[in-house]
Order: sequence, then structure tokens, then C-alpha cells
Amino acid sequence: MIQSPRGTRDLLPSEMERRRFYEGILRNTAQRYGFREIQTPIFEEAELFILRSGPNIINELYAFKDKGGRDLALRPEMTAPAIRAFVNNMSNDPKPIKIFYFGQCFRYERPQSGRYREFFQFGAEIIGTATPQTDAEVIATALDMVKALGLKEYKARIGHIGVLRRELAQVGVAAEKMPEILQKLDKKLYEEAWPLMEAAGVGREDADAIFDLTGTVGGNEVLGRISGGESEYLRQVLSYLSAMGIDAPEIDLGVVRGLDYYTGVVFEIEAPALGAEKQICGGGSYTLSELFGGEKVFSTGFAIGFDRVLLALEKEGASCPGRKIDAYIVAASCDVTPKAFEIAGMLRRNGISADIDLADRKMAKAMKHASSIGSRYTVIVGSEDLKNDSVTLRDMTSGEQKTVKISGLLAEIRDH
Ligand code: HAM
Repeated sequence: MIQSPRGTRDLLPSEMERRRFYEGILRNTAQRYGFREIQTPIFEEAELFILRSGPNIINELYAFKDKGGRDLALRPEMTAPAIRAFVNNMSNDPKPIKIFYFGQCFRYERPQSGRYREFFQFGAEIIGTATPQTDAEVIATALDMVKALGLKEYKARIGHIGVLRRELAQVGVAAEKMPEILQKLDKKLYEEAWPLMEAAGVGREDADAIFDLTGTVGGNEVLGRISGGESEYLRQVLSYLSAMGIDAPEIDLGVVRGLDYYTGVVFEIEAPALGAEKQICGGGSYTLSELFGGEKVFSTGFAIGFDRVLLALEKEGASCPGRKIDAYIVAASCDVTPKAFEIAGMLRRNGISADIDLADRKMAKAMKHASSIGSRYTVIVGSEDLKNDSVTLRDMTSGEQKTVKISGLLAEIRDH
């Protein structure tokens, strides 16, 4: 039997109903904050992701040549495509530009719970402003989204990648060596970071001080440990968040992020219940447009790992409205099938969801099917009733049945 490829899933009707419900909440929240949706291609020129995403992403890229010999890649994330789309189509629009997106991403990772090769991100970007207000707005949007989904247990951490980049530069790490070291620091793999730092000319004491910095976590007091302007910047971001009534994220100078393009504030949200793959959202400020042929423009954004956030909600026992079918229509005999279809048409035109027997089933089987699909009512169309322009309406919850004039059927179903 052919199965779906490793790391991918088929999303079946119940799961899709659940996903559309939560997607709607994210979409509404994005719109409440003034973001507008964009959609970009699922594959792009591979170079788009190779230029600045960093070693993590490049190693996981689904890259291929098309029949014309072009080097393409399935998108591993949607920030680089969003900025490419901005450079290509929106660079003259009034700024800041607030956009959001939802779609599949692909990474050749080792699949496990919460980690897939095809997964969905819901993300947003503010393009064209580099202010603490922008960062606060983005973080508020992300946190409000997670809250609106109804997730109870989650934790947000905010840092500033400028601090670590400066410290590394000060101890002699050249710019081209930084991505690999930052990647190790992101995962707190100090033993793997050390030989890279040593090779870059860093002494053991300096390395330990940097390791120590990445472990610095806490409240406002942490800001006192930062020497540069990043401290004041973070303070402002936190003050705008507080003004909006958003709970303060923890300050964590060890938030490095797995992608290489960040330049300023970085943040992550995690759901501890998820264990190893607990990061449900990541983001920060960056510049990419100049790499794609545009002017240098600062942006801030985030992406929520949609599959992970749904797993976290499931673990918390969150429920959402399921399938809804108002009426299942059954013709008691073949000669009244056209009338059954006429009634189905009338109900659907009037906004009632109606399904209909398509298999000339016997009444008992048709009833069983109506109950298995969760229909609220069954409408039984029989020749005797039809003589009085009536049908039999069965309430599938109470089991009660009554004869109803066809002219009153719509109101009967709608009113209950
Ligand atoms: P990222 O942290 O690489 O950031 O991914 C964002 C989120 O996608 C993660 O927090 C995680 O929840 C989810 N995710 C990542 N990989 C997988 C996977 N293999 N399976 C399931 N979920 C996964 C970005 O992609 C940036 N583009 C975010 C951003 C937007 N930064 C600025 N703007």
C-alpha cells in the first residue's frame, strides 16, 4: 500500500474542521491588528533561502532542479518569500506594511511528535519601520493570537540578538563564523560551540562569559546586565506591551533563534506540555530586502507553528464546534426521489445544510447513516405524506417524529 511520505500527514474531515476553526481565530486576530493577507508560491528560487537563512535551514531544504534546470526549493518558512514579494510588488506602498500569511512549509527534519517535514505556519510581518513600537505591536499580535486560541499554558521569552552578536564580535569572531556558532548557542550546545569559538580565536574565559550570558533569564533586572543601547530598546518594547495590557514576556538573553537573518529583538513562545518540540512561535526583527535586490528596509515578524499549537490545545483538552448538518433527506421510495432532491435544493438555497441519500437505501439504513453523520433532523419524503404536500420530520436527538407541511419545513428546521 502506498503511504503518504514520511513526515507528512493526511488531514481528514474532522481534523480539517478543527483546523479551519482555529485558523479563523488567527485570521480574525490578525485583521483586528490591521494585518492583510498575502499568499506566495510554495516553491521559490532556492537562492532565496540560501542567502541568509543560516546553516540550520539550508541543511533541511527540499531543493530540486526543475525540467528547465532552475534551482528551486520548497519553502522552509515564509519570511523570505514575504520580503521577496514586498521587494517585487509592494516597495512603493505606504509604510509600514502589515501582512499575514498561512500555509505549508517544508523542512527535511527527523520527524517526531510536533515535528513534521510538511507543517503549517501562520505568520505576520510589519515591513518598513524599525521602532520599539513595531516590535511591541508584533509581539502583542503573537501573544494575543495564542490567547485567542484558548491555550492556557504557555510562556513567552524576549531577547535581543544584537547583544550576543556584539559580544561575539568583541571577542574576535568574524561575521562569517557567527551563524554556525549562534546555531549551537541557540540549542545551548556549549560543548559543540566551544571548538568553533576556539577556532575563531576566542579564549576560554570569554567563551564562558558568553555561555553565561545566554543563560541569563529574568525580569527587568536582566536589562542591567546589558551594556549597549539594547537595554533601553527592550525596556521600551516592554513598556508598550504593558500599555496594551499584554503580560510581560520573560527577558532571556539566550533567545538566539534558529534562523540567521535576525538583527534586533527576538522572541519565542513555548508550550511546555509539548516536551522536546515545545516552541509554538518564533520571531524577531531583521533585514532581508537588500539581499533580494531592494533597498534596506527593517521588518519585524513572527510565525506560529500551527500544528504544534493545535497539539498543545489538544493536550489541554480544548474542544471546538464539530461538523454541523441540519437535515438528512431520505426518499421512502424511488418514485419520490425527485421530490426529495427538490426539498434538498430548497433547504440549501435557504442556508440550511442538507445531505441526501444517494444510494436508494432502505429506511433503517438511511436512518443509521443520518445518525452517523450527526444530522439534527431526518426529512422522510414518502408518497402518502406528499398527497398532503407534507413530509415527516424526525428529530434525531429526541427521536420525535411529526408530519410537517413542506411550506413550513424551512421555518420548522430554522426555528429549532
Ligand atoms: P521558526 O522558529 O523557524 O521561525 O518557525 C516558526 C515556528 O514554526 C516554530 O516556532 C515552530 O512552532 C514551527 N515549526 C518549525 N519547524 C517545524 C516542523 N518541522 N514541524 C512543525 N512545526 C515546525 C520562522 O520560520 C520565521 N520565519 C519566523 C519569523 C517570521 N521571523 C520573522 N518573521
